[in-house]
Amino acid sequence: MTETPFAGRTAVITGAAAGIGAALATELAARGMSLVLADIDEVGVRRRAAQLQANGVPALGVGVDVSDPDSVAALAEAAYAKFGSVELLCNNAGVLLFGSVAESSLGDWRWLSSVNVEGTLNCLHAFLPRMRQASGWRYVMNTSSTHAFLPDTANSALYSATKHAVLAITLGLRGELAADGIGVTLLCPGQAATRILDSQRNRPQTFGRRAREPFGTGPIPLAIEPEAVAYAAAEGIRRESPLVFALPDETRAGFRSQIEQMWRLADDALGDRTETRVGAGD
Ligand SMILES: NC(=O)c1ccc[n+]([C@@H]2O[C@H](COP(=O)([O-])OP(=O)(O)OC[C@H]3O[C@@H](n4cnc5c(N)ncnc54)[C@H](O)[C@@H]3O)[C@@H](O)[C@H]2O)c1
Repeated sequence: MTETPFAGRTAVITGAAAGIGAALATELAARGMSLVLADIDEVGVRRRAAQLQANGVPALGVGVDVSDPDSVAALAEAAYAKFGSVELLCNNAGVLLFGSVAESSLGDWRWLSSVNVEGTLNCLHAFLPRMRQASGWRYVMNTSSTHAFLPDTANSALYSATKHAVLAITLGLRGELAADGIGVTLLCPGQAATRILDSQRNRPQTFGRRAREPFGTGPIPLAIEPEAVAYAAAEGIRRESPLVFALPDETRAGFRSQIEQMWRLADDALGDRTETRVGAGD
């Protein structure tokens, strides 16, 4: 493990115009990285990049829709044209919708999964071929959520499903990339003070009408600052941790007991041999 893998290297961060992505940009800039900031909010991300440049940080702001493979391919071209190499890929862009399974529209699902799941895959497909051919320190961080570990997903099932997918993709990727010497971390924030409840500000009309927002579009209650998530993420990358949780201290015990509840469900089912005995007797 390198002690300081960041200085002098280049990171690409999606969803970098706001929230955790913007905080991650500031954190990685402070650790000496050059940055490619990408977001569907092109004006916002160019402004962020300009602010970093004004502070002497080599930075590029690029408008991208991660759900569109052509747009992501153009992002990769712009990143390599500007900096020549990419050592760290942070698949952070994501959107959130609450609502019941029964009442959610197919458009809701398609929007969530096109950004959260296909967006992650599109970026991996666009960047990995060149990252694999390179040598030295290289890294991928994918952002899932504590929602990928919750036993009760009432009101958040579709969002949670996309974050379960990111979890599975990342675990698979970690195995696949080990031979290339590329590290992989899964970042799971919980309740960070960002505009995530107002995700539909970026929902394209092609995915149908905006869904109702049962919890409003305001700030998340009892949340940690995105800067704290960014610090935990950077430390996770530096230590090459497979999994990083970043959540408010007050919610830590409750989250742990929810994970235990999940394990109890599995444990109880594994202990219950009724089904296999019935099957064996048929
Ligand atoms: N805030 C939380 O409590 C929390 C908890 C768990 C996980 N997360 C995850 O953290 C990540 C960052 O979210 P955040 O909380 O900073 O939210 P945010 O809404 O503040 O920032 C998300 C950014 O992604 C961008 N984006 C949306 N759609 C895009 C697209 N199609 N292409 C490119 N960029 C797009 C937005 O413009 C925005 O700048 C997401 O993956 C989210 O699911 C957040």
